[in-house]
Amino acid sequence: MKTNTIITGDSAEVLKSFPDGCIDLSVQSPPYDNLRDYKGFTFNFEVIARELYRVTKDGGVCVWVVGDATVDGSESGTSFKQALYFIECGFNLHDTMIYEKAGTLPSSNRYTQEFEFMFVFSKGVPKTFNPIMDRKNKWGGEKTFGKSSFRDKDGSLKVSGQREVNKIGKRSNIWRYANGYGFGQSDDIAYKHPATYPEALVSDHILSWSNEGDIVLDCFAGSGTTLKKAKELQRQYIGIEISPEYVKEIIIPRLAATNTPLPMGRGLTQREPDKRDSAPSQAFSQPEFLSDLEGLS
Ligand SMILES: C[S@@+](CC[C@H](N)C(=O)[O-])C[C@H]1O[C@@H](n2cnc3c(N)ncnc32)[C@H](O)[C@@H]1O
Repeated sequence: MKTNTIITGDSAEVLKSFPDGCIDLSVQSPPYDNLRDYKGFTFNFEVIARELYRVTKDGGVCVWVVGDATVDGSESGTSFKQALYFIECGFNLHDTMIYEKAGTLPSSNRYTQEFEFMFVFSKGVPKTFNPIMDRKNKWGGEKTFGKSSFRDKDGSLKVSGQREVNKIGKRSNIWRYANGYGFGQSDDIAYKHPATYPEALVSDHILSWSNEGDIVLDCFAGSGTTLKKAKELQRQYIGIEISPEYVKEIIIPRLAATNTPLPMGRGLTQREPDKRDSAPSQAFSQPEFLSDLEGLS
């Protein structure tokens, strides 16, 4: 099967030509409730969801980044319906993750909508998980307050000593990124597309759920963000995009301008902080990330 390629076409049709179980990871974001008019193209969600399940390897993962449109002042519920349909197709709903977006506009009669879902589906148990370790533990370096204790089979009480809390731990399943013009993308070509997701969001999923050499798919390639990050991270990539214009004017030049850096290690992942992850003038109650850890030994 040809990899490191972009296919122009309707994913509902193109995916049918793929063999069973050929994809390690897919990361994509579909058009949301026809919220934006992508040159009038539509997609057959059910067919694509079934095909994604078929083409995913056992233990492979499919990440679906999605939000709802607001209809008459309320949410459409499409994200939930799609998640339930993926489960019907056979996927496990491995993790419902949140993409917290900085700087969204307030709603008049609801609380400000600040997130989208990142549904992580797996075909069986995920075969790869390289957790990103960039969360500063509040109690890092301190001793646990109490001693751990448990009762042995014979009923006797075993008490172990206090232990030191790790300074840095696994991050939570709420990920925060800034997006919008000037944020999220490391090149200007991407902004020719009306709805990109941040590069760091994709690379964090690619690092988490795949290894070097794995095949990464995006069946709604858009500006090619997934493909670019897969290429940089030394994965093989396959993109499908229905708009020939996006393919020709955005994805191909963007990938041509993308370099592949040195191989990265496997196992626990500690990625470099990216200034574009942080939004200006926002107060967050979320975990502090690696960029806040300078000075820690
Ligand atoms: C939300 S955008 C994806 C943006 C992408 N994540 C990025 O960062 O650039 C959805 C894309 O899906 C494409 N699309 C819509 N229907 C499609 C279909 N049936 N098959 C393939 N692509 C489709 C649209 O043209 C649009 O570019």
